[in-house]
This record gives sequence, C-alpha cells and structure tokens, in this order.
Amino acid sequence: MRPLLLVILGLVVGAMGATFALSALRQGTPFHRGVMAVMQHHMGVLRSNVRARQCDAKATANRFSRMRQAAGDLREAFPDMDASFYEAAGRLDQALDGAAATAPATCEALARAVAPVGEACQACHRQYR
Ligand code: HEC
Repeated sequence: MRPLLLVILGLVVGAMGATFALSALRQGTPFHRGVMAVMQHHMGVLRSNVRARQCDAKATANRFSRMRQAAGDLREAFPDMDASFYEAAGRLDQALDGAAATAPATCEALARAVAPVGEACQACHRQYR
C-alpha cells in the first residue's frame, strides 16, 4: 500500500511542478504582448518615416509584410476570445493586405495606406483592450 501511495504522491507533485513551470514560462514570455509590440514598432517607424519624409517603397513593403505576419499570429496569441474579436483581427489582416497592395511609393501614399491600419488597431482596442 505504502509504495503505491508514494508513487501517487510523486505523480501529483510532479504534475504540480510542471503546471507551475508552464505558467511561469507563460508569464515570462507573454506572446500576445510580443505580437502587439512588434506591430506597434513597425507602425511607429512607418509614421515617423512619414514625418521625416523618408518613404522608401521597398522599406515600406517590408514593414507591411512583417506586420502582416505578426497579425497572422493574433489567433494563437489570443486563443480564448469571442468570434467578434477574430473578426476584428480579420479586418486588420484585410487592412494590411490592402495597404501592401497599394505599394505606396510617396509619403502621401504611405500616410493614406497606414491610416486604415491604425483604424483597425483602434477598432479592436476600443472593445477589447
Ligand atoms: C483583434 C484585436 C486587436 C487588434 C486588431 C490589435 N490589437 Fe493591440 N491589443 C489587443 C488587446 C486585447 C490588447 C491588450 C493585451 C493585454 O494587455 O493583455 C492589446 C494591446 C496592445 C498594446 C499594448 C501591449 C502591452 O504590452 O500591454 C499595443 C502596443 C498594441 N496592442 C498595439 C497594436 C497595434 C499597433 C495594432 C495594429 C497594427 C493592434 N494592436 C491591433 C487587441 C488588438
């Protein structure tokens, strides 16, 4: 009887340890914040490029594609949200695809392309942040 109890106790303690380790890992690397921070970074650079009048088409295209990749991780980064959250995430994808498709080559075009992206960020933040 005793060895069996010890085995069970060992399993329980092991499982608790694994749970603690996992939740510590999650707190240490908050993926959802990372995704937001990446998008925020590129958004900030694009806006300051417009202000500095430095709107290289290729650099802009690169930023849009990196933001689009981060946006593609929204579902994994926020796994337990309701349907309208994922619709808002989809609208960000569309805004980014649309912005990339216009391939802005001037600062005026870049400012126009960034605006709907910023609106898609805000629309979700108003409801969920
Ligand atoms: C589908 C919803 C949604 C979209 C779209 C979205 N966000 Fe967020 N964002 C959130 C939520 C929810 C939070 C709050 C996360 C938390 O604090 O746990 C957040 C938080 C943030 C934060 C703060 C992160 C932190 O460390 O607390 C930044 C910065 C941010 N978002 C930037 C952006 C940018 C830039 C975009 C657009 C390119 C964007 N977000 C689009 C839902 C969204």
